[in-house]
Amino acid sequence: MSDATQPASTPQEGARGRRMPEPCAMVIFGASGDLAERKIVPALYFLSREGMLPAGFSALGCGRTPFSDDQFREKMQQAVTEFLHLPADESAAFSERFGKGLFYLTGNFGEPAAYQELRNRLDRLDRERSTSGNRLFYLATPPSFFPVIVKHLGAAGLAKPNDPARNWTRIVIEKPFGRDLASARELNRTVTGVFSEDQVYRIDHYLGKETVQNLHVFRFANGVFEPIWNRRYIDNVQITVAEDLGVEGRGSYYEEAGLLRDMIQNHVLQLLSLVAMEPPATFRADAVRDEKAKVLRSIRPIPIERVHDFAVRAQYKEGYARGQKVPAYRSEPKVAPDSLTETLAALKLYIDNWRWADVPFYLRSGKRMAKRASEIAIQFRRVPHLLFASSGCNKIEPNLLTVHIQPDEGMSLQFSAKAPGPTMQIRPVAMNFRYGESFGASPPTAYETLLHDCMLGDATLFNREDAVELAWELVQPILDRWRQDGEKGLAFYEAGSWGPPEADAFIAGDGREWQQPDTTH
Ligand code: BG6
Repeated sequence: MSDATQPASTPQEGARGRRMPEPCAMVIFGASGDLAERKIVPALYFLSREGMLPAGFSALGCGRTPFSDDQFREKMQQAVTEFLHLPADESAAFSERFGKGLFYLTGNFGEPAAYQELRNRLDRLDRERSTSGNRLFYLATPPSFFPVIVKHLGAAGLAKPNDPARNWTRIVIEKPFGRDLASARELNRTVTGVFSEDQVYRIDHYLGKETVQNLHVFRFANGVFEPIWNRRYIDNVQITVAEDLGVEGRGSYYEEAGLLRDMIQNHVLQLLSLVAMEPPATFRADAVRDEKAKVLRSIRPIPIERVHDFAVRAQYKEGYARGQKVPAYRSEPKVAPDSLTETLAALKLYIDNWRWADVPFYLRSGKRMAKRASEIAIQFRRVPHLLFASSGCNKIEPNLLTVHIQPDEGMSLQFSAKAPGPTMQIRPVAMNFRYGESFGASPPTAYETLLHDCMLGDATLFNREDAVELAWELVQPILDRWRQDGEKGLAFYEAGSWGPPEADAFIAGDGREWQQPDTTH
């Protein structure tokens, strides 16, 4: 575990206990945008309410839209009230506890003058609010600004701590980290040309989700699962991240991204690496990240000429979501009427190592699917011998362990049991664990955990340079092939369904079927 006495400039790895970060100032680039309002500032307020922010903590929003400090405070108060569903009478507490630590700087990220002003504001915060020269930069802008801001921070001398023995500077970079392998490498080069790798926190909010973190605990703090967590006992693993939402006004972003880039290259491959990794030597950031990178390195590459055997893509047509008629993807605002962008993708991957050889990992994610449900289903092998066949029970479901990531966070284990009665009837039954029931509260959203971790210098739940590039290497042949194929091979599914028949045929070809998420476990 980390040592609270180590110098502030050394990342405090593995600090996953409840600790108080050192005083610091956080700079949010893109503070007038959606992410700051919906996620970042509400998460900061949550931390402040829980007493988890250091004294004097200050957040300085930066953006091109002009606001005074007071206007920014008011806007953030509205956002926090809305997204955290706060009662109206919490406004005094908001201002007193948190609002007075919010500031705003209007500026153009492309101009050096903005960074001189930023330096002055940060120095003032150090003097007036004792933020001690510790700085956390958060890039919540459109991705085209990432290299621009990084270079300017470097040129303005803001990328390195004033006094490396006494204070720290870190940078959080939002997704998407590049749009293909070449651009991700280029961005990594730019970022690590200015910051050292231990200052860089590449965020993937799925890693902050409570159930995702629980995968470590589940696997490595229980004796019964790890011995059977391998090819001898597991038949296949399915990871589904389904959303019932469409592109929600993000048509222009989504047209450029598509499902594979938006969800699989990052979130879904991260889930896969947590399920498949070997136990790390310690729970320190680099030990954990080494094991995750090893998984990505062991995934069998998909040759461009065989992409069809390993990947399916589809786009939603019109249909029904939450009882409402919803338009086809091609009719969404800012989407081309003949768009070829995929809104659903399914992949089959193999991990070529001793633990997982020949166990297929099926990944599936899509927009406008039947339900919002993210699950990891570990399907065990069938029993080797059907002892009950003579009693008419010739089909016994294999054991299934399901990690419910969202909603209804929890886990369930399905096994066979004799149904009561004089005859031998075998039925699948389940043992369930739900966060709400066991801990009396819903888990916090991911951003609180991740923001707190960066303030503590714990990079365990963040992506390292190598992992980001490995994930891009893996999806690049698929992106290339789909681009070459154009319309050929793009399937369509009704909005509000579980996807096209092509996705079912894809897995049925292996004699298997998708585990449809059960949101009533
Ligand atoms: C984001 C994607 O990274 O994750 C979105 O850009 C997606 O398209 C979102 O909707 C899903 O996150 P969550 O936490 O709601 O599952």
